Parts: sequence; C-alpha cells; structure tokens
Amino acid sequence: MAAFGIDATLPRDLIAKAKVESDNVNNMAAKDTVIVILAAGKGTRMHSELAKVLHRAGGRSLVEHVVRACQPLKPRQLLAVVGHQAPEVGAVVEALGAETVVQQPQRGTGHALQVARRKMRRSTKLAVVVPGDAPLLRPETLAALLDTHRRGEAAATILSAELDDPTDYGRIVRDSEGRVQAIIEEKASTPEQRAIREVNSSIYCFTLEKLWPCLNALRPNNAHHELYLTDAIALLRQRNERVLAQLAPDANEILGCNSRADLAEVDRIFRARKAAEIMKAGTTIYLPESAVIDPEVVSGPDTVIESGVQLLGKTRIGSRCVIRTGSVLHDTQVGNDVIVEPHCVIQSSRLADRVSIGPFARLRPNSDLRAGVHIGNFVEVKNSVVREGAKAGHLTYLGDATVGRKANIGAGTITCNYDGFAKYRTTIGDGVFVGSDSALVAPVRIGAGAYIAAGSTITENVPAGALAIARGRQSNKKGWAAARRRELRRAVKLNPRPRKQKRSKRRRR
Ligand code: UD1
Ligand code: CA
Repeated sequence: MAAFGIDATLPRDLIAKAKVESDNVNNMAAKDTVIVILAAGKGTRMHSELAKVLHRAGGRSLVEHVVRACQPLKPRQLLAVVGHQAPEVGAVVEALGAETVVQQPQRGTGHALQVARRKMRRSTKLAVVVPGDAPLLRPETLAALLDTHRRGEAAATILSAELDDPTDYGRIVRDSEGRVQAIIEEKASTPEQRAIREVNSSIYCFTLEKLWPCLNALRPNNAHHELYLTDAIALLRQRNERVLAQLAPDANEILGCNSRADLAEVDRIFRARKAAEIMKAGTTIYLPESAVIDPEVVSGPDTVIESGVQLLGKTRIGSRCVIRTGSVLHDTQVGNDVIVEPHCVIQSSRLADRVSIGPFARLRPNSDLRAGVHIGNFVEVKNSVVREGAKAGHLTYLGDATVGRKANIGAGTITCNYDGFAKYRTTIGDGVFVGSDSALVAPVRIGAGAYIAAGSTITENVPAGALAIARGRQSNKKGWAAARRRELRRAVKLNPRPRKQKRSKRRRR
C-alpha cells in the first residue's frame, strides 16, 4: 500500500495537511492525550506460560516495541493495562517510563479501557489506544492518526489496513457512502462481511467524553463473553458521532502477534527492516534473510556480513570488517579492518583495529583484544587484555590474563586461573614466547621477553629475559626398541597361541 487511504468522510485538503504535518513526529507533544497500551491478555493462542506481550521478536519483547513506538508522541500520560503476569509486564513498561494499571480479571478490550480510566489524569481529552501485541507500529503512523482525529473532529478514528488475508481480524463495515458503521469480529461476521479486506488494527484514537457513555453501554454478547472495545464503534454511530478509519501506510505495521507463526513473521519483518537499514549505511550482507541483527546494532561502511551471522544487543562494528558465516557477536565493540572467521562466539568484548579471530574462537565477557591481535581456532579468552600484536593461534585458554605486546602463546597453553575457590591473574610480559602445551598456574608473572619451554607447568614467576623449563627431563635409551622386540618374539615361541579353527566359516552357512 502506497499512501494513506482517503476516508470518504474527510475532506481531501484535510488529509493532505494531516500527512505533511505529521511527517515530523519529533515536533509532536500530545499534551491532552493519554496513550493506553492494552497488555493484560494471556495470549491463549500462543500456548505459553509466558504472557504474550513478553514474547520476543526483532530483539525485543513485543510490548517494549510498542512502548518505544509511543514515546516520540510525548503524550501527557503513557499508561499500560497489565494483568496476566502483571509484575513482569509492569517491570518492562515501567523501565521505559510508562505507568501501569492492573486489569484483574481480564474481561475484554473494552473492559481494559474502563479499568484504564481509573488512572487517567483529569484534563486528558484524547486517548490513543494501542494493543501490546502490535510491535511493528511506527510513531509516524500514530502521529498521523492523532492528527486525522483532531482535524476531522471525530469521536473515534480507527487505524485500519487492507490485508490479503484478513482472517481473525475484526472487519471495518462501511455504509454505501463509505462511512464507518461498525467493527465486526470474525466470529460474529456474515459471509459477506468476512469478504471485507479492510480490518481493525486495534489502534484507535478516541475523544474521551464521547467514548465513556458508549463504554458503559458495552455488553458481553459475544463468543468470549467479553466487553469488546470494537462494539463501542457501532454505539458511537448510533449516537450520530463521527467515526473515521484511516488506512495504515504499510499493512505490515498493524500485524498483531497472536500465535507462534505470527511471532516468526513479525520477527522476519523486523530483521528485514534492520538489515535494510544496515545495508543502506554501506555494509554488505550476503543472504540478509539469514542475518539476525538487533535494533541497536551499528555497522560501518564496506563491512561484509556473511550468511547466518547474529549481531546482538549493543554490538557495534567498524568499517571494512568481515564477519564470516555463523558467528554470533553480543554486546561487542569491533574496530576497523577486523576479521571474524566462521563460527566464533563473542560476548561483551572489544576487538580493536585489525584483529583477526577464529574460526571457532570463543570470547567470553570482558575480553579486550588490542590492535592487530590474532586469536586462532579453538581458543577461549575471558576477562583478559591481549595487547597489540600478540598471538594465540590454537587450542588455548586465556582467563584472567594480561598478555603483553607481540607475545606468542603456543598451541595448547592454559592459564590455570581457578583453584576451586578464587580466580587469580596471569601476567605475560611483552614479547614473551610461551611454548606449546604449557600450563601457567596463577597467580604468576612472566617477565618481558622470557621463554617458556614447551610442556612446562609454570608455578613461579619467571624473570624478564629468562628461559623457564618446568617438565620431566628426557632420557634416550639407545637400542632399546630392538631389544624389546626380540624379547617379545621369544615369549611368543615358548608359549604359542592356539591356531584358529575353520569351524566358524561353516557355522555361518
Ligand atoms: C483485537 C480486536 C480485533 C482486531 C485485532 C487486531 C477486539 C474485540 N478485537 O482482536 O478487532 O482486528 O485486535 O490485532 O478488540 N487485552 C487486555 N485485556 C483484555 C483483553 C485483551 O489488555 O481483557 C489486550 C491483549 O493483551 C492484547 C490486546 O488487548 O494486547 C488485544 O487483545 P487480543 O486478544 O489480541 O485481541 P484480538 O483477538 O487480536
Ligand atoms: Ca491480537
């Protein structure tokens, strides 16, 4: 759908104006308006112990998306109706600055608004109602709806959408002149009404003094014995009040998440939106439909993201990096010209310019890799600083360590940082060479430029420039192997093994 639909009851010039002035949502300050988020329902169709609005799509809970879409309108009051798992849902919305009111039991969307009334500030004139399960809604669309409502001097303005498949949504029923008459829920609809493709988004703007008498008149005459907010529309029309319906600019925006399938679809749309934003800013993404990129992620120009990569939380990636297939980066800062080879898992860490890591590397929280560091396959790093140009190429664990500039950590090196009670630090100086398969038992310090002989177990500090060897001494026994073989042959002759019987073959037949 290209633009806002034209409502038959609204003069054309009014719509044009509404659109232009709502373009800059930042100028909005809806001082006389309360936004009510309906988030009390259980979400039966999810078949979940978790309240529906706490399910996540596009990197956030559904209700968090909704609150964030409402905030830019700067309403006088942002009020969430909570009920099912009220403390948990309440905590999410309150952290974002919304107030809450508890609806217990949940007797329908109309009842939810009756409950919300108790907490509304006196001087509020308008209410924008938003369901907690419509996370794709954008602030611009809400602002335009509010604008249309004001300019149209309506009692109610419904955000509608035209869907190819309107199943499960309430239908917008209009009269022969195109005026909104009622919203009819799917279950109560006639076959003709079911064919209507214009649906109710559950996003509305109401003039409160006109709405209250209609809310009081709601009756639970429906399949669920609930008080439906949708019934208020017909009641308003019976009182000859003006009701408008405005088409959402993008039908996707109104998608409500009622089932796991809806959740997957909404998540897909969020990911596609985010991938498009990242690509627009100059990052290449191969198979963008396979990338999982959270809303706050930033990526610089000429960075390449391969298929199946997950960039989560507050991850920020610089320019000209390559993040190869299957890698997962969470809350991680990545500089410029960094290469993350396939299948690395990185959490809350920093990778400075020109770092290369992986394939199959794991950085646990607080790994700080300075410029030019190389971390190779099957290396795990945790709470460590690895200074400029240092390398740990293979099969190593660096935990609670500081690794000096240009140090070389041999394959299989382990910092033994834990004694079963506490953690201790390992400090490795600049230019140190640690031979393969060494165990560095912390707390321990290796001075700058020192060598550790392969296979050493280092339990004491090593002075700068020293060689530390801490392993059993090797002794070679000349001719030992031949003597051993002779001995074995003699033993076999004296005590020959019984010959194999051929019976086994016959038995198989
Ligand atoms: C509702 C509309 C339908 C519309 C659809 C759009 C009604 C009767 N129907 O149907 O016309 O097409 O949304 O997605 O309103 N809630 C409460 N308290 C309650 C009941 C629900 O807070 O007592 C909340 C839910 O948590 C949810 C929202 O209201 O966030 C909508 O409820 P839901 O049950 O999802 O309504 P739909 O059946 O989708
Ligand atoms: Ca719904």
